[in-house]
Amino acid sequence: MREVRYVEQIPSIDDYFPLFLSTGWNDQYKFTKVDILKSISNSWFTVCAYVENDLVGFGRVISDGVHHAFVVDIIVDPDYQRHGIGKRIVERLIEKCKESKIRDIQAFSTEETAGFYSKSGFEISAHNPLGMQVSYTGGEG
Ligand SMILES: CC(C)(COP(=O)(O)OP(=O)(O)OC[C@H]1O[C@@H](n2cnc3c(N)ncnc32)[C@H](O)[C@@H]1OP(=O)(O)O)[C@@H](O)C(=O)NCCC(=O)NCCS
Repeated sequence: MREVRYVEQIPSIDDYFPLFLSTGWNDQYKFTKVDILKSISNSWFTVCAYVENDLVGFGRVISDGVHHAFVVDIIVDPDYQRHGIGKRIVERLIEKCKESKIRDIQAFSTEETAGFYSKSGFEISAHNPLGMQVSYTGGEG
């Protein structure tokens, strides 16, 4: 595979939006480019993976910088999956959290991605195994 360059920065929205759409998540959320730019700009830490000038991977942490950190939006371009890019991104995100001594480093996984997270440094939490959320569609206006 061609050389992958890892850069700790917020990607341009024109690079990132197609990568985000590749997940299919936006079929439900229907976020605009402006929404997504706002979300990634509010990240605590971000890692991009580039092959030449193409953004092929991304991951980010949202955090208070002390107590809680959530690893979210790990995305690798389908053409570049299963080459270790996602794992390398998650490892760097965890390392960055540890550098700041953040105590609770968490991620939400589906059944399908649990194997990936396990191999990237996470373990299923024995203390807090049930992820809880408020389900709503975003409402009107
Ligand atoms: C999940 C995802 C980020 C994995 O990225 P990737 O670059 O293909 O993963 P890697 O090649 O770094 O895989 C690391 C390890 O996890 C394993 N792995 C990767 N995807 C896996 C999966 N879906 N299920 C089980 N194991 C998986 C790999 O085999 C590899 O194992 P190894 O270290 O023994 O060789 C990628 O498939 C993706 O972008 N999916 C769509 C978005 C998504 O679901 N993101 C995660 C939730 S935020």
